[in-house]
Amino acid sequence: MSREADRDPHRAGRVAESFGSGPDLYDRATPAERMGSWAMGTLGEELLTLLADLYEQGQEHDAHQPRHGDRLRNLEPQTAALVSVLVRSSGRTRLLEIGTPNGYSTIWLAWAAAQTGGRLISIEVDPGRQRMAEDNLRRAGLRDRVDLVLGDATDVIEELTGLFDLVFFDADRVSAPAQLALLLPRLAPDAMLLADNVLSHPGEIAGYLAALEDLGDFDRLVVPVGKGLSVAYRGPGHPREQR
Ligand SMILES: C[S@@+](CC[C@H](N)C(=O)[O-])C[C@H]1O[C@@H](n2cnc3c(N)ncnc32)[C@H](O)[C@@H]1O
Repeated sequence: MSREADRDPHRAGRVAESFGSGPDLYDRATPAERMGSWAMGTLGEELLTLLADLYEQGQEHDAHQPRHGDRLRNLEPQTAALVSVLVRSSGRTRLLEIGTPNGYSTIWLAWAAAQTGGRLISIEVDPGRQRMAEDNLRRAGLRDRVDLVLGDATDVIEELTGLFDLVFFDADRVSAPAQLALLLPRLAPDAMLLADNVLSHPGEIAGYLAALEDLGDFDRLVVPVGKGLSVAYRGPGHPREQR
């Protein structure tokens, strides 16, 4: 395997698990095959291929953007797969995502919502990105599962009604504590909160993690997948509810 492949843990994993160790086999593989056996077969070949294409296009796009804010910064595929399993295995139906870009993680969440009979609201501040996400959700056949909302998430959240049983924070991180505070009255008693970039941007996410800790009624852990996923969970009958 080439040095380049050695530096890419996903590529190395995909090659090792799906094709043995020959670079030729990897190069001949379809995008879906490149996702490897760790990926989610239940998504189906077509959706897996679309997701693999979107991820690769996102990586390609980001590689040419010197400014952090111009990058799409899609979730690592394994993180997205874990998020999807968390939603499905706990039957979450009222999902909120903060940060849509091209709809990569939105598709994973929308597909999971389709399995649980749920819906997703996804908030994005950039109209061009939201249009991209809308196109990609249509391509995935999942447009009807998602309400795409345009605006600054902190403002949008103030206007939201209804309860959420899963919130995925993946926008600008520093606004996440304020967004969490606004969302508290809109969280179901049984609620899961996810946030990416705990390991890649520990300084920026520190305020969010501290805010979570202050809540006191959420179990908290960091899963060292991708860029580090914060998982916080409060079950029904949590101490605050029993008071
Ligand atoms: C890291 S990307 C999200 C990646 C996405 N979860 C995925 O895997 O495809 C962050 C996105 O949040 C958007 N964003 C940043 N600050 C925001 C805010 N205050 N309100 C809404 N969207 C915001 C950015 O425009 C960007 O598209």
